[in-house]
Amino acid sequence: MLLGVNIDHIATLRNARGGAEPDPIIAADICERNGATSITTHLREDRRHIKDQDVYTLIKTLKTRLNLEMAMADDIQKIALEIKPHSICLVPEKRQEVTTEGGLDVAGQLDKVTEFIKPLLDNGIVVSLFIDPTIEQVQASAKTGAQFIEMHTGTYSQAFGTENEEKEFQNLKNAAIIAQNAGLKVNAGHGLNYENVSRMHEIPNLYELNIGHSIISRAVFTGLPEAVRKMADLIK
Ligand code: PXP
Repeated sequence: MLLGVNIDHIATLRNARGGAEPDPIIAADICERNGATSITTHLREDRRHIKDQDVYTLIKTLKTRLNLEMAMADDIQKIALEIKPHSICLVPEKRQEVTTEGGLDVAGQLDKVTEFIKPLLDNGIVVSLFIDPTIEQVQASAKTGAQFIEMHTGTYSQAFGTENEEKEFQNLKNAAIIAQNAGLKVNAGHGLNYENVSRMHEIPNLYELNIGHSIISRAVFTGLPEAVRKMADLIK
């Protein structure tokens, strides 16, 4: 399994004071030097953390891959088509949410999603759909032309260590197998930390995990190199 590190929280901290520190560009470089195989950023419509200039700089400075999380918004699509990240991950977005709360409803808007991702695919950008691990969403995703799904692991992460853990874990495992049988590659992320990440090894052929909050939180105490190295070791 590969490790994509989400650096949005570095930008959140920077923006708290409106200055330049800590610099997400430097953070991305440290992540790459310590085991990250890609860098994820979510250019939200309200630009609450990552700003346009960050992605314009990252696309030039990254040595690995840029995975741009984005909602189905025309202005963000325009930026993606301009900078051409290695991949985009389509996520739902609500203005008031603290973080991405659920998966994208691909089944409920199949034509809209298919149409939205077409120019991205036509321009050689790999497309991933961030979905809840249900059969309905997986089957719909397979019809869109996207190459990847990213399974939302938030519910599993919250259930970890409780009586619901097994059920939530099996949902992820089943969804991954169905997706792979339908020709999709499978990533996972949201809420994964240094404990609950271990069970991701039980899911066959997961490609990449995208992890942000737990790594940046740990980095406050250990430093970013150690926090990234530790997670990279756990998922190797
Ligand atoms: N994957 C996606 C699609 C996300 O939206 C997020 C959160 O921005 C993550 C992964 C990372 O989640 P966390 O910060 O909880 O590790």
